[in-house]
Amino acid sequence: MAIININIIFPICLISFAIVSCADEISHVSVSQSPVIRQACQSTRFLQVCESSLAQRYLHLPPNPTTVQIIKSAISVSKEYLKKGKSLVLNVGRSVTVNVNHTAVIHLCSEILLYSEYRMESASEALTQGKIKDARAWMSASLAYQKGSWGALRHINDTEPVAQVLSFLDFLTLLSSNALSMMVAYDNYGENTALWVPPKTERDGFYEDRPGRNSELRYKARFPKKLKVDVTVCKHNLKCYKTVQEAVDAAPENSTRRFVIRIRGGVYAETVRVGFRKKNVVFWGQGMGKTIITGSLNVHQPGINTFTSATVGVLGDGFMARDLTIENTAGSEAHQAVAFRSDSDFSVILNCEFLGNQDTLYANSLRQFYKNCRIQGNVDFIFGHSASVFQDCEILIAPRQPNLERGDNNAITAHGRTDPAQSLGFVFLNCLINGTEEYMRYYNKNPQAHRNYLGRPWKEYSRTVFINCEIEKLISPEGWMPWSGDVGLNTVFYAEFNNTGVGSDLSKRVPWSTRIPPQYLHTYSVENFIQGDQWIPRSR
Ligand SMILES: *[C@@H]1O[C@H](CO)[C@@H](O)[C@H](O)[C@H]1NC(C)=O
Ligand SMILES: *[C@@H]1O[C@H](CO)[C@@H](O)[C@H](O)[C@H]1NC(C)=O
Ligand SMILES: *[C@@H]1O[C@H](CO)[C@@H](O)[C@H](O)[C@H]1NC(C)=O
Ligand SMILES: *[C@@H]1O[C@H](CO)[C@@H](O)[C@H](O)[C@H]1NC(C)=O
Ligand SMILES: *[C@@H]1O[C@H](CO)[C@@H](O)[C@H](O)[C@H]1NC(C)=O
Repeated sequence: MAIININIIFPICLISFAIVSCADEISHVSVSQSPVIRQACQSTRFLQVCESSLAQRYLHLPPNPTTVQIIKSAISVSKEYLKKGKSLVLNVGRSVTVNVNHTAVIHLCSEILLYSEYRMESASEALTQGKIKDARAWMSASLAYQKGSWGALRHINDTEPVAQVLSFLDFLTLLSSNALSMMVAYDNYGENTALWVPPKTERDGFYEDRPGRNSELRYKARFPKKLKVDVTVCKHNLKCYKTVQEAVDAAPENSTRRFVIRIRGGVYAETVRVGFRKKNVVFWGQGMGKTIITGSLNVHQPGINTFTSATVGVLGDGFMARDLTIENTAGSEAHQAVAFRSDSDFSVILNCEFLGNQDTLYANSLRQFYKNCRIQGNVDFIFGHSASVFQDCEILIAPRQPNLERGDNNAITAHGRTDPAQSLGFVFLNCLINGTEEYMRYYNKNPQAHRNYLGRPWKEYSRTVFINCEIEKLISPEGWMPWSGDVGLNTVFYAEFNNTGVGSDLSKRVPWSTRIPPQYLHTYSVENFIQGDQWIPRSR
């Protein structure tokens, strides 16, 4: 912790003097004045940062602050830093717009810091309203966005101002992590801060199950009946919108009712963006392979990054899609080329197909539910920082060029979770894991040359589980592969339960994977993991 004090707080003080007083100044207010703050900070991973930032706030709190008031003051410290971080990124943008790729990164960073701020504010409100699961989900996303902008900026870290913003954002993530850890402790141990401890994970034997809630693991989701179609998109009729994007543009902002876009059969070659304020938008196609939205953006093009490569990118909450195909046809040699990206909380995707190679499905953040979908790709083709459940889906490895004859190495998932307090993870329920017919022809010719894995840890606390799935022979006996050396291998949670098929044999699995103890299975139900009972339409 001392390292943080010297190396991080010090430069921060230089940059942000006007906003927060420096660490040594803060520490004049002794935390011993407030045992309750000291106790609350015991729940965090960055204790010293917690105590010094909250001690300063202590003066503004009522004499005997409630736990919620303490957590909210931790959020408000984080929010001040976030606002400052946003303006620092903009300043850097003004000073180092040297090329199109740098400009794209700066633009992306400022954009996702806005989402971070919005989710943080929502988390704070949810806490007041006693909606602790929402608060955790939104703060988890807020932190993920901060890490995301840090990660993007790191690629253009070639000037001093960028390096300074990086260390500022780094410190911001410590503050946000601390606020989130307090929420987790509050949810798990209640008001009594004396009981609070830092966030634990399944790797510590800690499962967040809810005894007595013996729900089914799967969820009987259905498309809402009697949905009125608001607008139609089609190819050959004068009364239709000709592009999906035009129809999206016609949707009202902040709608609380679903806005239904019927998309007739046809191939729509376009890039579609459902903006942050376009809420409750529904895409209703005529079937996989019939209604097709297609694009080919990829990171080899100037100014395109993984985030912006998506053929369809959705930000607004409550997105729903049914019966269509979304693809990115850039090809495997183009590397990162996303078909579908979602940052939509409470999103429901039914009977949809996602086709691509590397990074096909970018389930970037918040809570998402996929049912009866077909997802195809090869490298990390289901990835992101969300809490997503994939139920009754078909997950298919597709051939990767070139040198297919010589073999390949593929990971189906690359989940990103940087902090044990984040309520994020991928859950696969009753899915089929297989290769496409074409891929299996290559595979069968020389099985030894083709190595396929269930996942690899994009980030240190990556979490992915497969339950009641059929895992075909193409999955290698080790099951999971490292990302880089031993990074994350002691902290990730990669687990399996009751899967069938040749590839489900657990006898040769890597030692850092886990079998879910049956008594904790319901931690991963749709209800517990993403609170799906509160927002996914259900059939009786
Ligand atoms: C950014 O660059 C500076 C100067 O080279 C370096 O000290 C720093 O560690 C870099 N930051 C990151 C996050 O890579
Ligand atoms: C939608 O909500 C945002 C804030 O979340 C607000 O800034 C915007 O003005 C709203 N738009 C409309 C049309 O109400
Ligand atoms: C921007 O990135 C593209 C794709 O990686 C690259 O081909 C191009 O040379 C880059 N442009 C500049 C100005 O660095
Ligand atoms: C997996 O794919 C192969 C090749 O297409 C096919 O023969 C096999 O039946 C599939 N497995 C299942 C369980 O559908
Ligand atoms: C295990 O999988 C079988 C099907 O292969 C299923 O019938 C059974 O209910 C599953 N067990 C649990 C505990 O989910």
